[in-house]
Amino acid sequence: MRKIVFVTGNKGKFREVKDILASKGFEVVQNTDGYPELQEDTLEPIAAYGAKWASSKLGLPVIVDDSGLFINALNGFPGPYSAFVEKNLGNSRVLKVMEGETERSAVFKSVIGYCEPGGEPLTFTGTVKGNIAFEELGAGGFGYDPIFDYNGKTFGELGDEVKNKVSHRRRALDKFLEWLE
Ligand code: IMP
Repeated sequence: MRKIVFVTGNKGKFREVKDILASKGFEVVQNTDGYPELQEDTLEPIAAYGAKWASSKLGLPVIVDDSGLFINALNGFPGPYSAFVEKNLGNSRVLKVMEGETERSAVFKSVIGYCEPGGEPLTFTGTVKGNIAFEELGAGGFGYDPIFDYNGKTFGELGDEVKNKVSHRRRALDKFLEWLE
């Protein structure tokens, strides 16, 4: 089995990346040391900087995942501020902001950053389209999963196995694996 270090403190991200990559013959090792998160309007530079910083600090090839929920009616908010909004407002307040809004389309985006020590970082982006649900549904997944409706069910209701077949993270990892091969 090939080993890969994933620098993240997010248990949900780690569980998904571990399961997705295990099915492709990789053992994913979590490292929770963290890295400085740039404040940018897009996710790619945040993931690229984090991967380069962490690989140089650890002296190992690493992956990182920077992700976010982009709600079209809110001009892409919370996007790169998704972690801050989840921590300080949470799903119920996001649903409040969306009250009375009929345009509920949204995109989940995941950017996998990869870097080897002394090398330049690469990024692999995956997206999935859905809609903001009218209420929180399902106990599976993490973060915004209970309010992200994908073809009639939230990611929270679908659970990891189904989510991991279609998610933004899966699509970003597929691109990374294609490049690796
Ligand atoms: P960051 O990537 O650490 O900047 O944080 C992204 C934010 O989006 C966090 O609040 C995550 O919980 C949330 N998030 C990222 N990916 C997912 C997902 O697959 N489902 C639900 N929430 C997610």
